[in-house]
Amino acid sequence: MPDEAQPTTKSMDDIMALCKRRGFIYQASEIYGGVNGFWDYGPLGAQLKKNLRDAWWTDVVMKGCNGKPGPDGNPVSIVPLDSSIIQNPKVWEASGHVGGFNDPMVDDKETKQRFRADHLIGVYVSIPFESVEQFQVLQEAGQNIASPEVNVVPDKTIVANSSHEAVELLTDRKLQKLLGIRSFQPFANDTNGMVLGRIDAGSGERICEFRSIPAQTLELHASSVPSPFTGKAGSLTTPRAFNLMFKTVLGATGNAEDNTAYLRPETAQGIFINFKNVVDTTRVSVPFGIAQTGKAFRNEVTPRNFTFRSREFEQMEIEFFCHPDDSKGWYTFWRDWRMQWWQDLGLKGDNLILREHDSDELAHYAKEGAGTADIEYMFPFTAPGYGELEGIADRTNFDLKQHAEHSKTKLDYFDNTRGELAKNGQPKGERYLPHVIEPSAGLDRGVLALICEAFTPDENRPSGVYMKFHPRIAPIKAAVFPLVKKDGMPEIAEPLYNELRNRFGHLGTIEYDVKQSIGKRYARMDEAGCPFCFTIDSDTLTDNTVTVRHRDTLDQERIAIDRVADFLANKLGV
Ligand code: GAP
Repeated sequence: MPDEAQPTTKSMDDIMALCKRRGFIYQASEIYGGVNGFWDYGPLGAQLKKNLRDAWWTDVVMKGCNGKPGPDGNPVSIVPLDSSIIQNPKVWEASGHVGGFNDPMVDDKETKQRFRADHLIGVYVSIPFESVEQFQVLQEAGQNIASPEVNVVPDKTIVANSSHEAVELLTDRKLQKLLGIRSFQPFANDTNGMVLGRIDAGSGERICEFRSIPAQTLELHASSVPSPFTGKAGSLTTPRAFNLMFKTVLGATGNAEDNTAYLRPETAQGIFINFKNVVDTTRVSVPFGIAQTGKAFRNEVTPRNFTFRSREFEQMEIEFFCHPDDSKGWYTFWRDWRMQWWQDLGLKGDNLILREHDSDELAHYAKEGAGTADIEYMFPFTAPGYGELEGIADRTNFDLKQHAEHSKTKLDYFDNTRGELAKNGQPKGERYLPHVIEPSAGLDRGVLALICEAFTPDENRPSGVYMKFHPRIAPIKAAVFPLVKKDGMPEIAEPLYNELRNRFGHLGTIEYDVKQSIGKRYARMDEAGCPFCFTIDSDTLTDNTVTVRHRDTLDQERIAIDRVADFLANKLGV
């Protein structure tokens, strides 16, 4: 975390309540009690999501990185694709998903709850609190107070994404009671991302440390590790590999075994298996990218944190094919451009970071030395840590190689701009399997980050909060309000509404509302994140001007009614 970064003080409960209240996001199947890991987008959420997807599509595909030249100095060439969610099951064998797309899963036999082994955070209760000075000496000397040799098995466990989230959960009185904890107070973050606190777990105040439980501990000591649900040892199973792909059965006949297919866990493979089609049927030449957006499905063991980890979600992926010698330059280009893109949409400051992976984090397709970075956002539930929004990976030629081998199809590329020069002075050409740089973003995580960033508590306005969306992605672009439903005001407001709708309707909603007091209507627009409201009042009747209300500053100004459309075009940058 950068030194100056401040943990966000926004409450996830407040954000989720606003999402429900204003129709951004609903629980899927809510009237039937919901279904874990699935979400529905309401009218505002669906438009916000479309605006984000459109911004990506326009800037990446249609404008080729907004016209920024690639590292070779040429315009970036990208073509779109829309591949099937279900493909031949061999695709997933070749990609490594059938054999390797697993999460380690642990069951609690007593409560029948299931969770990801790598999400089990251990609370290691250590030295008595009076020895705090001694602890500080040890810490300054760079020693962990509860090293595995001292404390192999944790005293308590909690299911959470990070030590920080575990600490937050443990401030809940109900959980404390369940786990037999009398009091708990966090007091320091140590340098390794661990969190320390003072705890009374029944034998007086002591220092405790939160940290991930090594996989080996769970393998060897599962029966001694206390359950995160009851606090008692003896009910946890050893971790088992759980494949995250959703299975389905094709057709009405045949047995399930023979007709098993999978819902895609990433959109990327649809691109790789169409590489040859695109090269053969269009005029693209390497370096070029194929981009697609679409749903992906993962049977996450523990879906959590609102839409952050869902079982159905949408991705925005680019597979950029280049010569192996050029992959480093293209990796750096994409990594930096994608970071800039999110910043331009409003994810600014210390809430957004670019983090290069350590070598022990590399995915199965990424080779040592090939770059992998994450663009990460400080969500309220990860603060002061960060959660992944987009990954940028140098996938080398792993996927094309796998598909070439498994499908027995030649996927190498003949590049007539390379190779030795022939007698006529022209290159002889070179045949190679391109390397791939993959910027892979989550659309739902993007929407969630934009919602969290936009959420701005403000006790000075009636709504108590407003959504400070960048006008480009705001779901409602403008509202037209007759001050009252009489005196000829609606008759003036309606044609203005129709004019704005015709001109800007492809970008988002134009709202028209005559009901309730103007204060209540403004408050509703603040919560929806509408950047501009145009109000027709008694002055309009005499001087043909309207009031423009600016969401962020609350400033009001008057402009001529026939200038409203151009004013909005200017503000929306269209
Ligand atoms: N093709 C590469 C790939 O799929 P990934 O890191 O597994 O890489 C890419 O996923 C992005 O998809 C992530 O950065 C995240 O934004 C999003 N994503 C992954 N799993 C998700 C889930 N369960 N729920 C919501 N978004 C998810």
